[in-house]
Amino acid sequence: MAAKPVPEAEGATPPRHVAIIMDGNGRWAKKRFLPRIAGHKQGVEAVRRISRAARTLGIEVLTLYAFSSENWRRPEEEVRDLMGLLRHFLASELDELVSEGVKLRVIGAWRKLSPDLVAMIEGAMARTANNPGPTLVIALNYGAQAELADAARALAEKARAGEIDPASIDEAAFEAALDTGDLPPLDLLIRTSGEQRLSNFLLWQAAYAEFLFVDTLWPDFDEKALAAALDQYGRRQRRFGGL
Ligand code: IPE
Ligand code: IPE
Ligand code: MG
Repeated sequence: MAAKPVPEAEGATPPRHVAIIMDGNGRWAKKRFLPRIAGHKQGVEAVRRISRAARTLGIEVLTLYAFSSENWRRPEEEVRDLMGLLRHFLASELDELVSEGVKLRVIGAWRKLSPDLVAMIEGAMARTANNPGPTLVIALNYGAQAELADAARALAEKARAGEIDPASIDEAAFEAALDTGDLPPLDLLIRTSGEQRLSNFLLWQAAYAEFLFVDTLWPDFDEKALAAALDQYGRRQRRFGGL
């Protein structure tokens, strides 16, 4: 089999695409005898802080896991609170994203959220679509297995319609059919709060990402923590199967 070229085997280049599983809001609140929503509110502050810091640090794409397709299993009241915070975030952050030239993208089954949120997301993406970047990607009602199944279905439909030859479906074609198809490869995946699992996040994209699990709870994750994560990343040697 022909060897694939080894991308950036040197390793010391800064990550272009960083993703974060923002976990630990509930535990942050519990430690303070506060309701879980208080942790989520502080979590939104961390999103503001970290998206700014990522821009300062020159990260091209920051992908944040905000609500998983499994998070519907939480009590109705918590889901309602989370959706409320999302509305608030979109309304309060949009002007800054526009003025900073940030391109906002949303991935996941966000079109299945409530109609007012769908309209807000569409408006926000449209307002920032022509911005030069960096890109802020928010994963909402996102599940990687559904993303993969959706991509397979879309390709199957195209093949049935005679638009593509099934023999042409290779890794690149499959990747292009994912929500993240036009984004640079995922370099670094961070999960806060000490849990060490993917929770159905970016399964395909994580194939050669570096993983970093930190004990810090998401509301406590700050600029220094992000800089430390990038420093850790810089010490890794990425080999991509080569030497
Ligand atoms: C992450 O914090 C936020 C979301 C999943 C929306 P959690 O709410 O999962 O916090 P813990 O894991 O209960 O501490
Ligand atoms: C993953 O966190 C989802 C988000 C951060 C949005 P969870 O807290 O929902 O994950 P599990 O349930 O511990 O796997
Ligand atoms: Mg959690």
